[in-house]
Amino acid sequence: MMRISTEMFFRVANPRLVALITSGSISDPNAMAATWHAPISFDPPLYGVSVAPERATHSLIRESGSFGVNLLPYEMVDSVHTCGRISRRERGDKLELAGIRVFSGPELGVPLVEGAYTSLECELVREIELGDHTWFVGEVRSVLALSGDGKIDVSTVRPLLYLGSDLYVTVDPESVRKGRVRGTRQPS
Ligand SMILES: Cc1cc2nc3c(=O)[nH]c(=O)nc-3n(C[C@H](O)[C@H](O)[C@H](O)COP(=O)(O)O)c2cc1C
Repeated sequence: MMRISTEMFFRVANPRLVALITSGSISDPNAMAATWHAPISFDPPLYGVSVAPERATHSLIRESGSFGVNLLPYEMVDSVHTCGRISRRERGDKLELAGIRVFSGPELGVPLVEGAYTSLECELVREIELGDHTWFVGEVRSVLALSGDGKIDVSTVRPLLYLGSDLYVTVDPESVRKGRVRGTRQPS
């Protein structure tokens, strides 16, 4: 089997959008940072997240059969990073330490994060062990989003991306432009 260094792997994998994956109950919630998450299917709407077995989140998702995906703005970087470097196994008051407050999702009662610009409630439908992580697949049962037109307005919401080595970045709104298929004229 090919061996690649972690540094080289992250160089290929990043930058990536960071999410806070919420789990547990509204009275006893947890949140962990995740960059290995992805939409999978429109119909049914499926969303996946890759979670290492040693995370407290891993057993909480299994126990409740659900999880939340929360996209937080760049301004909340330290809250996200705290949830990505501290485990609930070490600090029971992790969310308080991170300054994260939650509310109950409308469909499943999954804890969702206040201040997120997009949150999903997912019902666990499959889990697949892949290498040293488990790929949890959830059916999306509710979507809470700031804007309903299918794209984020990056002049008002600054998405949080992870670069690796504890570094984060956001996007430059000045760089937004429409893509053009080469060899065609730009639509007016
Ligand atoms: C930016 C960032 C991204 C991360 N992405 C993942 C990920 O995709 N999957 C994972 O299992 N752990 C990931 N982690 C590590 C977990 O967030 C971390 O181990 C966390 O403390 C687990 O919390 P818990 O034990 O309370 O569930 C990431 C950490 C950081 C800082």
